[in-house]
Amino acid sequence: MKLSKQCGSSVRVVSRAARVGAWLGVALLSGCEGSSVVGPSTISSDAGLADVSVADVSVADVRVVDVGPSAMQAPANRPQPGMRPPPIAGPAAFGSPLTGLTPAQIQAFTDGLEEFQNQETVEGGLGPLFNNTGCFVCHGVPATGGSTNLHVTRFGRLTAGVFDPMENEGGSLMQQSAIDRSAREFIPSTANVTARRQSTALFGLGLVEAIDDATIIANALTEMPAVRGTVAMVMDVTTNTMRVGRFGWKAQQATLLAFSGDAYVNEMGITNRFYPTENAPNGDLARLAASDTVADPEDQVDPVTGMADIDHAADFMRYLAPPPPLPPSPSIMTGSMVFGATGCADCHTPSMTTGASAVAALDHQVVHLFSDLLLHDMGSLGDGIAQSPATTTQMKTAVLWGIRASAPYLHDGRANTLDAAILAHEGQGAPSRDRYRALNAMQRQQLLDFLGAI
Ligand code: HEC
Ligand code: HEC
Repeated sequence: MKLSKQCGSSVRVVSRAARVGAWLGVALLSGCEGSSVVGPSTISSDAGLADVSVADVSVADVRVVDVGPSAMQAPANRPQPGMRPPPIAGPAAFGSPLTGLTPAQIQAFTDGLEEFQNQETVEGGLGPLFNNTGCFVCHGVPATGGSTNLHVTRFGRLTAGVFDPMENEGGSLMQQSAIDRSAREFIPSTANVTARRQSTALFGLGLVEAIDDATIIANALTEMPAVRGTVAMVMDVTTNTMRVGRFGWKAQQATLLAFSGDAYVNEMGITNRFYPTENAPNGDLARLAASDTVADPEDQVDPVTGMADIDHAADFMRYLAPPPPLPPSPSIMTGSMVFGATGCADCHTPSMTTGASAVAALDHQVVHLFSDLLLHDMGSLGDGIAQSPATTTQMKTAVLWGIRASAPYLHDGRANTLDAAILAHEGQGAPSRDRYRALNAMQRQQLLDFLGAI
């Protein structure tokens, strides 16, 4: 499943040593001096593989990018995804591993990083349907594991208030690319709901995973009835148990391994032990059979390590540090009080504590995520897609840590500024939005300064 890595071949990726070196802020080329790094494919939304263009980027281009507060309101200045491997961050920057990991855990992080930065190939199982060729293409800004403004499309049909995900016709998730033109998927003409969902940043998700279900449930009970969220109970395919969902815009997955398996099959068409079935183009099994040549499951457990690619990617996310907050200023500190007084903290719970974990860096840690991880009825801001147990209008409270680096905002990226994102809150979020509207200019700025620092 991996691209060949030897120096001098036509297809090369930066070696693991070079990546770790770059992560430490040192340009180590590990004997591949002057070699090039193959950038991620740029795939237009309606392209077959024939349209894939591969950009060659020199190793010197792999560098740490500083994302300061100035980047916050300027989405147009964000590096464009898909052109080159994203920079690998230095310690205490976006994209670092958690502090306090053991050498074995650091190794698992770097192995996972390598898999996360891998580009899948048709021979390795990519497709027949896919949205993109590697995790990092959609999760790469401002560092590997971040977000991008790349989005996926969902569709369905709403009839007399009942949502049909149109599973027999390839819904609700659409795959926008195919390895073979005959396998292309289209939005069926009978669909009357379509929604865009943006890629989200994955920083600190190991900590989010380590929060006990009971902590999330107990926190829900402290919320005022008017804003109280709903716990998203989902079937976790990795343990076959009902768990509190917490990942994705609809809290649709409970564990990183489950999300990893889900992303491999649904974003890249790589079947795996939890998701062994390929998506058929608009549900058409004959068209699938004509273009699907690699036996399933495509992601095999390596008998030596006992791990498959989905496990490596999950490890990378598990050990990825949370976004680094900026140093507090008087305005930021006052802004944190405005955040509470305006009712933002009613849903965007400033912190929760992880439960017991065999990983010391995840064990009983305070997590400053600014989310209750619950579903809220957001009225017309909802994305119109029912994804069990979330209804069409329910969305999970978005985490706000690191938000300075993830414009544009909201599930569909409709808001270019934090101000616009707040003003778009509807449903259970409307009273808080109205309190925000009633703030004077200085209080608003303090709140925005706070959001830009967490
Ligand atoms: C085509 C772009 C794309 C690719 C490729 C992609 N993702 Fe994502 N990712 C998204 C989008 C969009 C979302 C939000 C989806 C939703 O909630 O419906 C997301 C969400 C996630 C989440 C949930 C994050 C959170 O904050 O709750 C995880 C975990 C994740 N992706 C992991 C991966 C992994 C691992 C890979 C590679 C196997 C991958 N993704 C590949 C676009 C992508
Ligand atoms: C009733 C619960 C609730 C309250 C109160 C609330 N939010 Fe939210 N917030 C959400 C939900 C749910 C989302 C995700 C909505 C979506 O994208 O569809 C969200 C999204 C956001 C986003 C965009 C996040 C991203 O990643 O794009 C920002 C910024 C934000 N909220 C800030 C605030 C601020 C500031 C306040 C107080 C003025 C506030 N919110 C009050 C529930 C709430």
